[in-house]
Amino acid sequence: MRKPIIAGNWKMNKTASEAKAFAEAVKNNIPSNTQVDSVIGSPALFLQELMASSKGTELKIAAQNCYSENAGAFTGETSPAALADLGVQYVIIGHSERREYFHESDADINKKAHAIFANGMTPIFCCGETLETYEAGQTAEWIENQITAGLVGLSNEQVASMVIAYEPIWAIGTGKSADATIADEICGVVRNTVAKLYGKEVSDRVRIQYGGSVKPENIAEYMAKENVDGALVGGASLEPASFLALLEGV
Ligand code: G3P
Repeated sequence: MRKPIIAGNWKMNKTASEAKAFAEAVKNNIPSNTQVDSVIGSPALFLQELMASSKGTELKIAAQNCYSENAGAFTGETSPAALADLGVQYVIIGHSERREYFHESDADINKKAHAIFANGMTPIFCCGETLETYEAGQTAEWIENQITAGLVGLSNEQVASMVIAYEPIWAIGTGKSADATIADEICGVVRNTVAKLYGKEVSDRVRIQYGGSVKPENIAEYMAKENVDGALVGGASLEPASFLALLEGV
């Protein structure tokens, strides 16, 4: 019922020529988008090149961040209107690295979500807890709070159409993934929170990804779970063969 979505998050990796070479290597081998949405989240610098290289193919392109205003005196920021003009379809927001290193608050992330929708794009909204919160047994409450605050004021239709990525911080880039049972349980918390706030019809439609040390060897275990509709993948999305293997694992 929900179409799977696999999104690579390259983070601050690659050069323009490496990004171009990646797109050239994968673009004709992406599965049909009736089976899976295949997305690469690139640094803003390479988006134009990737849009050109992937034109007419099944590969979709995401930005890793944007600002909440379309234009103005915001030195160094990226305009959502400019992303939309390039043809970018998704924007990752609320990644734990942005929350931690760039001090983004739930309110900042919420403003970005509104701006992304206003420009006709789709947010990939990230949430996730620290190891300390996980070990204290407070993950569900933490996730509920992040979702409640991050989605304030969005319409039912907007929430149904967005993507929410559950990424436990303790599993990001550590090689220590939350096992598929934990991922399914917490993605279930995400879905129940959406149901409480927006109703069952919306929670049945919203797509929820797991992220944190996902690789070709374990993607199938996650995809077999009821509440997991895809993955947001860092390290294992950087090489063409590995990215294609992730898509094959859906
Ligand atoms: O957004 C993806 C992410 O943070 C997970 O990274 O390298 O553990 O797959 P990685």
